[in-house]
Amino acid sequence: MARVNENYAKLPGSYLFAEIARRTSAYAEAHPEAKLIKMGIGDVTRPLVPAVVEAMHAAVDDLATSERFHGYGPEQGYDFLREAIAQHDFRARGVEIAVDEIFVSDGAKSDCGNIGDILALDNVVAVCDPVYPVYVDSNAMSGRAGDYDAENERWTDIVYMPTTAENGFCPEFPAEKADVIYLCSPNNPTGTVLNREQLSAWVDYANENGSIIMFDAAYERFIVEEGVPHSIFEIPGARTCAIEFRSFSKTAGFTGARCGYTVVPKELERDGQSLNAMWNRRQTTKFNGASYVIQRGAAAIYTPEGARQIEETLEYYRNNARVIKEGLEAAGFEVYGAVNSPYVWCKTPEGVGSWEFFTKLLEEANVITTPGAGFGPHGEGYVRLTAFGDADATVEAVERIRAM
Ligand code: MLT
Repeated sequence: MARVNENYAKLPGSYLFAEIARRTSAYAEAHPEAKLIKMGIGDVTRPLVPAVVEAMHAAVDDLATSERFHGYGPEQGYDFLREAIAQHDFRARGVEIAVDEIFVSDGAKSDCGNIGDILALDNVVAVCDPVYPVYVDSNAMSGRAGDYDAENERWTDIVYMPTTAENGFCPEFPAEKADVIYLCSPNNPTGTVLNREQLSAWVDYANENGSIIMFDAAYERFIVEEGVPHSIFEIPGARTCAIEFRSFSKTAGFTGARCGYTVVPKELERDGQSLNAMWNRRQTTKFNGASYVIQRGAAAIYTPEGARQIEETLEYYRNNARVIKEGLEAAGFEVYGAVNSPYVWCKTPEGVGSWEFFTKLLEEANVITTPGAGFGPHGEGYVRLTAFGDADATVEAVERIRAM
């Protein structure tokens, strides 16, 4: 008889954002008159910019001719996109990344979830707490997390590193050994960033301990403060201990179009094996490459016109983040993030739990947020709001919360 992956049976409840969607639609069904404002899942709302749309249209036309038709593309991504990435995302910032260290995919979520394929099951995984749930759940699915301890809301074999207001949202080195360490900056969910000194300390730690840092830089384009690292590869030593994930989702509105990429440096080796070669082997076996049309669209953000246009959209969201932060602060809330990030991490009122506050905001302000506890035990006492909404709706949401 066929047997299933027993690790799935250990997963608690549903995926966080599926659960929020479920609660939200139950509320909307019961209150059809409610004008809900979504600030829950970090999904963008502004349309693709004209340069991207034109490039995608032209790519569809390519596929409609026998001369310019494209079938299977390179599993690693087309060179036109990989070269643009190497040039604009890295070389322009003084970082040398070779084209064959860049693997284009259908998004950072897939890559973050799949990267475990090339790692041993007995690696000890360390995550920040609170954390983007994909890192934890994907390791749990593959059997690297042990068992779920419902009482403590923790997996027995995962090392949790509290990242809280008390430690300035920079995790301390764990007391236990940690082989694989997930870091995300600008952080989801807290919206805070790691500075150069903090990131350097982590790179040194990883090199000293033989650990690998999985660095999620999906929100890199939101960084506005000088000196904040945009890539872990700006840090000396990172090439021997880090993998970086990037996304076009929040950068250029590709949450629906789907495109991202992962950088695996050639110096990264463990057990005498090149992780670049292993990831290449994995991708060529299990992935047929991101769509040609979508990659043409992604490449258009590196043209002067495309770059200017996406910058306008990013500024639109940055302004929303400012509105939320300033509005909530004026209403007396303690607020973090928002400056280099589309996420606003807001402390709940004294004595109000994060699911309770989520429900209160849903029912009394008709504003959908994400309860901090959904990101891990140390997210309790917070809710996350996103700046990806319509500007007017964002102003109204803040007004409604203040009125509460
Ligand atoms: C989030 O809300 O945390 C993100 O939208 C999730 C994602 O990008 O997958």
